[in-house]
Amino acid sequence: MVEIIQGNVVKKFHCEKKQSVLEFLRESGYMVSAVCSGNQTCGKCKVQILEESPMPNDREHQFFSSREIEEGHRLSCAHQIRSGMRIKLEENQTYQSLTNFELPNSFELDKKNSKGYGVAIDLGTTTVVIGLVSRRTKEIAQVISFLNPQSSFGSDVISRIEASKQYGVEVLRELILDEIRKGIEALCELEKIRVFEITDFVISGNTTMLYLLQGYDPRELAVAPFRVSHSEYAEYDASTFFSKKWRGTVRIFPCISAYVGGDIVSGLYAFGEELEESQPACLLDLGTNGEIVLMNQNEMICAATAAGPAFEGAGIQSGIGGISGAIDKVRFDGKEVVYSTIDQADPIGICGSGIIDVVAEGIRIERIDKTGRMAKGDLCLCEEPKQIVFTQKDIREVQLAKAAIAAGIKVLAAHAEITVDQIESLFIAGGFGQYLNLQHAGTIGLIPKELIGRSRTIGNASFAGAVKALFDLNYEENLEEIREKCAYIELSSEKTFNGIYIQEMGF
Ligand code: FES
Repeated sequence: MVEIIQGNVVKKFHCEKKQSVLEFLRESGYMVSAVCSGNQTCGKCKVQILEESPMPNDREHQFFSSREIEEGHRLSCAHQIRSGMRIKLEENQTYQSLTNFELPNSFELDKKNSKGYGVAIDLGTTTVVIGLVSRRTKEIAQVISFLNPQSSFGSDVISRIEASKQYGVEVLRELILDEIRKGIEALCELEKIRVFEITDFVISGNTTMLYLLQGYDPRELAVAPFRVSHSEYAEYDASTFFSKKWRGTVRIFPCISAYVGGDIVSGLYAFGEELEESQPACLLDLGTNGEIVLMNQNEMICAATAAGPAFEGAGIQSGIGGISGAIDKVRFDGKEVVYSTIDQADPIGICGSGIIDVVAEGIRIERIDKTGRMAKGDLCLCEEPKQIVFTQKDIREVQLAKAAIAAGIKVLAAHAEITVDQIESLFIAGGFGQYLNLQHAGTIGLIPKELIGRSRTIGNASFAGAVKALFDLNYEENLEEIREKCAYIELSSEKTFNGIYIQEMGF
C-alpha cells in the first residue's frame, strides 16, 4: 500500500505495477509537473517521500540541498514506486484569478444573442485561461488560469504527442476536458450563476492542444511533411462535448499549420486591424513556442520557431509560469539583488519576465559575457523561504530560445523583402506580456534593438480573440479569411535560417 498526502487529504493505493513514482502518481490521478518527461534533467517532478525514502542519486544532489535530501525530497521520475512509501505532494493547484488583460479596441455586439453568458478559453500547452463573459454587459465577469494538467507528460507539444502514443489520445483528452469543466464550474460559482446559463464556448489554442482536445491522433503533426488533417473551424454541442446537462455550442478556432495554430489565428483576429494600421507590422507570440506573423502591404506570412518554453519557466532550474509568487522583475543593485513577485507573495520561482531581467542585468554588471558564459558560478536570487538560483544551463536555454525568435523575425523580414528596421511596430503577445521589460528584451537580443521603441506588449492575444468571437456574428468567415490569407513559411527549409540563428546566439 502507498499513502499519498496532499494538503489535508490522505489517500491509500495499492501498487502492483513496476513503474516510477511519477508514473504511479499520474495513473492515480495526481498532477506532477514533468517538463523533461522523466529524464531526470528538469528537476520539476519533486515530491517528498516521508517513509521508505530511496537513496538519492547524483542528479538529485544537484536539485536539492542536503537538508531537503535529509527530509526525503526526491525526483519522482528517478525512483520506482514501492509498497510502504508515504508521499507528500504540494497542495493542489489553485486557480489564479486574473484581472489584467488587454482586449481589442472594439467589437460588434450580436444583438440577437445578448443574453446569458459565454466562455472564452485559451488552451495553452503550459497555461489554460478561461474567462466568463456576460453577453448582456459585454464585460468579462471572471477570469481564471491554471496549469495544463497534461504538463505531467512533459512541457512541449512533442512530449504530449509522444504521451498520446504511449497512453492513448483519450487519456490526454479526458485530463484536459475534466480540468476545463472544473474551471468553468469554479467560474460559475464565483459569479453565482448556473452552468446552463452559458450558451457559447469559444476555444483557441495551438494545433496539438486542439487535436488532443477534440480526440484526434496528433502523430502526423510530429513527422514530415507535418500534415494537418483537422485544421478547420469546428463546432460541437456542449452536451456531447462537455457534459450532458450543459447547453450551447462549443466553437474551436481553425489552425494554419502544424505549428501555427488557432492561438495565432485568434491573436490576428483580435489585433489584426491594429496590425493593419501600422504596417509593416509583426505579431510575436511568446508562448511555449515562439510564433511570428509579419504583415506587409496587407499580405501576411507566418512561421513557428522551435524556441521552447524557456520564457514560460520550463527548462529553467527555478523557473515557473507567471503565477502568484513568481519573481517577475529583477534588478542588481551593487551586490544586492532587488526583485518583486507577482501578488507580492513569497517567492517560489522565477517567471519569463524575471528570467529576461536576470540575463539583461547579468550582462550589464558583466557577470554574463557576450558568449553567455557566466562568471563566478550560479546567481542566487534568494535563499529564503526557498532557494532560487539562475544557472549557466539556464542561460544556455535562454540563448537557444531568443536566438530562434530573433532569427525568425529576420528571416520573415527578408522574405517580405524589407529590413528589420523597416518594421513599423512589433506586437508582443504572451502570458507574461504585461510585465515584460522591453529594454531588457532588446538587451538580450530577444527582440531587435531597433524595434524597442516601436514594440508594444498586448498580453494574451489568443484569449482576447476568443472573447471577441463571442460577440461576432461573422466569426466563422472572419477566421477563415485570416487562415487563408496567412502564408506559412517553414523556417527549417530556409537556407539562411541556421546561419542567422547561430549569429543570434550571443549577447
Ligand atoms: S526531472 Fe523528473 S520529470 Fe524532469
